[in-house]
Amino acid sequence: MIYLDNGATSYPKPPEVIESFMDVMMNYCANPGRAGHFMAARTSQEIFKTRLVLARLFNIDTPGQIVFTKNCTEGLNMAFKGILREGEHVVTTSMEHNSVVRPLKALEKKDITTTIVPCSKTGELSVEAVRKAIRPNTRIIAVTAASNVTGTKMPLEEIGRLALRLGILMMVDGAQGAGHMEIDVKKHRIDILAVPGHKGLMGPQGTGLLYVREGIPVRPLLEGGTGSRSNQLDPELTFPESYEAGTVNAPGIIALGEAARVLNKIGVGAIENHERKLTEKLQEGIKDIAGVTLYGPKNYKKKTAVVAMNIDDMDCEKVASLLNDKYGIAVRAGFHCSGLAHKTMGTERTGCVRMCPGFYTSEKEINDTIKAIKDIALSEK
Ligand SMILES: Cc1ncc(COP(=O)(O)O)c(C=O)c1O
Repeated sequence: MIYLDNGATSYPKPPEVIESFMDVMMNYCANPGRAGHFMAARTSQEIFKTRLVLARLFNIDTPGQIVFTKNCTEGLNMAFKGILREGEHVVTTSMEHNSVVRPLKALEKKDITTTIVPCSKTGELSVEAVRKAIRPNTRIIAVTAASNVTGTKMPLEEIGRLALRLGILMMVDGAQGAGHMEIDVKKHRIDILAVPGHKGLMGPQGTGLLYVREGIPVRPLLEGGTGSRSNQLDPELTFPESYEAGTVNAPGIIALGEAARVLNKIGVGAIENHERKLTEKLQEGIKDIAGVTLYGPKNYKKKTAVVAMNIDDMDCEKVASLLNDKYGIAVRAGFHCSGLAHKTMGTERTGCVRMCPGFYTSEKEINDTIKAIKDIALSEK
């Protein structure tokens, strides 16, 4: 199988990640922070090391401000619902995933309002339009690092600067950025960062993280056992444990730490270069095929490894099925949990086919994909 669905979750995972997961499961996986015995202590230490290595990856000075979550959606919900208060306002964009826009929609019932800034058809965001959308009660500017439909990168540094100048929190959905492009909380002035562990970071499913800058008050989504101050019913909230109530996904988190070590060793810049080459090859290889329509920016520096297309008026689900059944190529078709992004692109009625090369994708696999698309387009004539 040629796997081009890395935008949904990365595959395969680095061997070190799989070995680490098995090592935890076979040799010491106890409940961290719940007992003083050797196995519990080792599990706690390894989880702590994961916080350190992830902090290094995102240039975070305070690893204790990293909360482990089960995916990116949980982190985004925790941040919006835990930070925002009645009467406050959020500015976001029309390229966001439903894991941003749906929690914000739900918060309307609590008198929290949102302005969605329209992006261009290729998904590009004007910082000036963001600035104009800001109101006196704006608490958060929430942007995706890169669109999951077109790959379009958002101007993080400029928005971070604007947010800092106006005293507004800058929140980044790092789902399609982490592991694919630089995300540096200091350089980009990010106050809140939600990231999945299972996409570009190449860790296991069931992992993710939320970073919240020190000093920002957050109400937890869940209350429960944290292994500390167990005789208090309403203990003072402390990072990270108050936000990780219940038994955490120790094998997943520790294997995610190994994934971050692999990423630090390869270098996100090297991964980005490799993925950009493949994206360019794929896009250049299909752009002139009669009937193919491409979406998103043409300039590869403006996007991550996502190629979105349609063939004539063929149902995108049919194209994806043909790629799977006849050519053994895994892609994703439809609306990609981002109805607003499709509206922005003008594909709200058709959806599109999305192909996401990853770190383990080869040039040969891209050549085979180009041939398959040519074949499908021709057979439609
Ligand atoms: C831009 C974006 N944000 C958020 C998410 C949600 O991530 P998760 O599935 O880890 O909750 C995704 C997943 O596809 C995404 O692409």
